Amino acid sequence: MECTASLADGGSYLEERKVVTVLFADLVGFTSRSEAMDVEDVRGTLQPYHELLRRELERYGGTVEKFIGDAVMAVFGAPTAHEDDPERAVRAALSIQDAIVRLRETDPQLDLHVRIGVNTGEALVALDAKPAAGEGMASGDVVNTAARMQSAAPVDGVLVGEVTYRATGRAVEYAAAEPIAAKGKTGLVPVWVAHRVRAQLGSDVFRDLETPLVGRDRELGVLVDALELARSEATPRLVTVLGVPGIGKSRLTYELLRCVEEDPDLITWRQGRSLPYGEGVSFWAFGEIVKAQAGILHSDSAETTAEKLREAVIGLIEEERDAGWVEQNLYPLLGLTSAGELRGDRQAEAFAAWRRFVEALAAQRPTVLVFEDLHWADDALLDFLDYLVEWVAGVPLLIVSTARPELIERRRAFGGGTANATRIALSPLSDEETARLVAGLLEQAVLPAETQAAVLRRAEGNPLYAQEYVRMLQDQGLLVRDGDVWVLRQDVELPLPGNVQSLIAARIDALPAEEKAVVQDASVMGKVVWASAVGHIAGRGRWAV
Ligand SMILES: Nc1ncnc2c1ncn2[C@@H]1O[C@H](COP(=O)(O)OP(=O)(O)OP(=O)(O)O)[C@@H](O)[C@H]1O
Ligand SMILES: [Mg+2]
Repeated sequence: MECTASLADGGSYLEERKVVTVLFADLVGFTSRSEAMDVEDVRGTLQPYHELLRRELERYGGTVEKFIGDAVMAVFGAPTAHEDDPERAVRAALSIQDAIVRLRETDPQLDLHVRIGVNTGEALVALDAKPAAGEGMASGDVVNTAARMQSAAPVDGVLVGEVTYRATGRAVEYAAAEPIAAKGKTGLVPVWVAHRVRAQLGSDVFRDLETPLVGRDRELGVLVDALELARSEATPRLVTVLGVPGIGKSRLTYELLRCVEEDPDLITWRQGRSLPYGEGVSFWAFGEIVKAQAGILHSDSAETTAEKLREAVIGLIEEERDAGWVEQNLYPLLGLTSAGELRGDRQAEAFAAWRRFVEALAAQRPTVLVFEDLHWADDALLDFLDYLVEWVAGVPLLIVSTARPELIERRRAFGGGTANATRIALSPLSDEETARLVAGLLEQAVLPAETQAAVLRRAEGNPLYAQEYVRMLQDQGLLVRDGDVWVLRQDVELPLPGNVQSLIAARIDALPAEEKAVVQDASVMGKVVWASAVGHIAGRGRWAV
């Protein structure tokens, strides 16, 4: 009978229930082979393999929980959640398989093959566990089932469970597989084999148009006007679209693209995106733009890449010496020479050359450059955009950038300091707009009042949340058709869609520890809380709360 008594000192809890993605990888037939091997040879074989696993897992933000001989267990989403943990895990699994193929090519004698299992679900996570000391971090059914999937996976294959499959279906290509039996489960567990990542990360233009656009007339107006001004005055302009995940930043950009496509004049549109993970990707987004302009494909060899770049630069810049200089400076963006540290004078020269490239592009015809997800960009790219807006002159250029609010916490002045820079903050849709969006998704004019109210309350004006709720309601059969309307089944509470949960979990994990602890305390009470009550739980002052 001690509800609200403190559970731990300092108000931060060392155990959390979290949705995590667990990855198991195991060498095929290694145990039996190692019996006949010298112990030093066993270690010699395992060491490069362990290094490879750790590198690939950590590159995608996974935490290696333990190596057990030739097997490894890694967790994505703990201690810190990302919104895309299942996708990170599957990408890591696929790149482990790729790396093993390369290892086999360099050392055919080793003949290594792995099976990998990936499973997503709720686990109890010990935040203070020290994986290095062999302490387990995540426990729960999700872990056992992941291990089971690993042993059922085909040789050189990746097997994933249902939640993982649903969360990553758009990014990864899968084939159906026979369901498997798992210990402690009555039914069979459905599984899928992951084949490959669908599109090259990032550069794809937004084409996801299942929802008709609602609202955002004024915001779109700002973008269209900025483009008009850039054209009529032949000056560069920067518009930064800010807002929380799912609020519609990418969608707004896409709507501008539709206007551009309808324009009778040709306008160049190039787009790049900053990534949340990966190495050596400082200027990745700009690199994508250059690649798109030169028609360079992901699969192109270094030779083809260099050739296409040369043609693209010559097409834009006539003067031979200038063209050569610009070309050389674009090399690091395309991975043709190592980027090294672009600092000081080296960076100044690179920026000048890149600016020359952008100016030549915009001199040819009006140009829109889109930099998506700048909250993941590092400072160097932000510096470059500042530099462009300040120094490009005499050409019609619109730079559109999108970012979550944390960008501004990091760089207060970004996108707002100068006369030719504008920011648009996207606020939540109104209830009426959200209702129209939901109706559009369900292809009917109105939902029964109760169902609609339930969805609107939870979506809170976020179009992505609204979309995910509707999708979940349909997928899980919670909405049933009654004549020509959809109604919510009587017997169910609306659960939280997985995708919305991971977005929110990632935002909570990104809070400073103290603030996160307050949120955790408050969650005991529910959606409406009282500051003094929250304060009481962990002995914080009311005003501090
Ligand atoms: N005004 C709108 N009308 C209809 N659908 C919308 C609207 N705004 C956004 N959507 C839809 O909501 C979903 C999320 O939008 P979007 O991808 O643009 O979010 P975002 O702000 O770019 O999020 P993130 O920060 O994760 O990149 C998309 O499927 C999009 O089509
Ligand atoms: Mg976006």
